[in-house]
Amino acid sequence: MTVSTTDTHAEPKSAEQGGPRADATLAAGGSDPATTAPRAGRSPAHRASEWWRTAVIYQIYPRSFADANGDGVGDLPGITEHLAELAELGVDAVWLSPFTRSPQHDAGYDVSDYCDVDPVFGTLADFDRMLAAAHEHGLKLIVDLVPNHTSSDHEWFRAALAAGPGSPERGHYHFREGRGEAGEVPPNNWQSVFGGGAWTRVTESDGRPGQWYLHLFDESQPDLNWESEWVRERFREILRFWLDRGVDGFRVDVAHGLIKAPGLPDYTPPAEHEGTAQTDGVDTEPYWGLDGVHEIYRDWHRVLADYPGDRALVAEAWVAPLERTALWVRPDEMSQAFNFSYLLTPWNAEQLRSVIDESLAAFGGVGAPSTWVLSNHDVVRHATRLALGAEHPQGHGIGPASAGLPDPAVGLRRARAATALMLALPGSAYVYQGEELGLPEVIDIPDEARQDPTWARTGGERYGRDGCRVPIPWAADAPAYGFNATGASWLPQPTAWHELARDVQRADADSTLALYTRMLAERRAHGLGDGELRRIDGLDPDAVAFTNGTVTVIANTGEHDLELPAGEVLLASEPLTGRTLPPDTTAWLV
Ligand code: NOJ
Repeated sequence: MTVSTTDTHAEPKSAEQGGPRADATLAAGGSDPATTAPRAGRSPAHRASEWWRTAVIYQIYPRSFADANGDGVGDLPGITEHLAELAELGVDAVWLSPFTRSPQHDAGYDVSDYCDVDPVFGTLADFDRMLAAAHEHGLKLIVDLVPNHTSSDHEWFRAALAAGPGSPERGHYHFREGRGEAGEVPPNNWQSVFGGGAWTRVTESDGRPGQWYLHLFDESQPDLNWESEWVRERFREILRFWLDRGVDGFRVDVAHGLIKAPGLPDYTPPAEHEGTAQTDGVDTEPYWGLDGVHEIYRDWHRVLADYPGDRALVAEAWVAPLERTALWVRPDEMSQAFNFSYLLTPWNAEQLRSVIDESLAAFGGVGAPSTWVLSNHDVVRHATRLALGAEHPQGHGIGPASAGLPDPAVGLRRARAATALMLALPGSAYVYQGEELGLPEVIDIPDEARQDPTWARTGGERYGRDGCRVPIPWAADAPAYGFNATGASWLPQPTAWHELARDVQRADADSTLALYTRMLAERRAHGLGDGELRRIDGLDPDAVAFTNGTVTVIANTGEHDLELPAGEVLLASEPLTGRTLPPDTTAWLV
């Protein structure tokens, strides 16, 4: 196998031109001059300080991490209390999903004040204490920023409603007259990612039905108009507000959605993209991935560059192929982009080999590190997803009525193997809270307990994302498994989570928690994040095998035992006997 890359940038393309070599060496976006373009204006010393290039970043979903005040929703003091466990786990940084003021119609991704903490999570003073404690533990902290839309409760949107059609305030959002004789037909045919139409009609101050506003997500999340300089200036202020408090960076929500095509033309997405925020670059969606978004991030790059230390911008951009994702992390834009192509790859050796090669080449091609991610708060947990049948390739629509529900033991085994593969790759990796405990997706949440707006907006047709957001278990025998002291929980926790609780796993050397802790320690000890990947070819088709520095890694995605390559086993995702690697197992050797 050879490395093939498609470079869509101004960077050189072929080996002859000084681009990626057609051999088996790929680096973490930097150490192999042949696979990476230099990062303009950055000296090697500067790059060495870019902590995010190799970091393992732990995603905290604040509602479900730890609840200090016992109201059933997690909070910032709860996070502060548990930072020591994250340091013990061995991660480098924490990303917090939104905790800013919000009516919580989309679990905080509907922000009504970007510069304050929602009372459900605490106060700004709680935030400052948490950030200081994180830094004391040696953890960087990045916060979520939601620029595509505000909450409909935000004062900007209220002002827009009050000011009426044609006002500058309405110009901060996408207000339009309706079509049809009485304006009763939405301005275009766009659909919300969460189901239903993407437009809602307002009642004007005279009590009559009036203009419509655009919301690519829930109707409580009106899209901002990023053509407006006023909007741009507000967000520079918001960035500075958090930078001044000392945050180490931002995860930018819907980073591919801010600019809409002029005239907002009708568009019907291909069936496979319906209800997702994904674009494949083949179709030209009038709202995803338009060129104009990049100027916004170049601007933000300059804002961050004014601050000391090394602050990072991370793109949540559901774009494919990877060469397109890499546009977000060109030298003068963002630092990292989530590698959703990797997340969406099934447990299949051939596809994994390809996506790893393509990732390193695409991100390396612009001098950025690749990222790796298997789970987050929007997708079916990988301990369930990787064992789903072909009818649920990505787990969309999985729920109690689904056919072919996966075997949890197979799911957990594959998840451990998949994470062992991921954490051996050069670059930066994300771990979503609870995956270190091997938590599965919670499939049987009662209908009346479901909270994701997707559930209501599709009339129960799509189950949505509640199943990966259930509060995590800390202690087997405590109320709410130690999530709090009262037993309250905003989503019901399964009765069968005792053995998955952190305290139980901490006492078990073979637990998933022990495996993660070991992998993170060895990853750091062997410098894997900063390493150089060399594929080992010519093995069984079901093997994914490579060396990263002095460590040899092999994953078996097939149904038969494989022979281990030479070396002493450093760790394995399952206990090994002799020199064989059983199915659904990954081993690291030295
Ligand atoms: C992506 C976030 O990850 C998701 O949770 C949210 O619902 C949408 N963006 C809208 O903000």
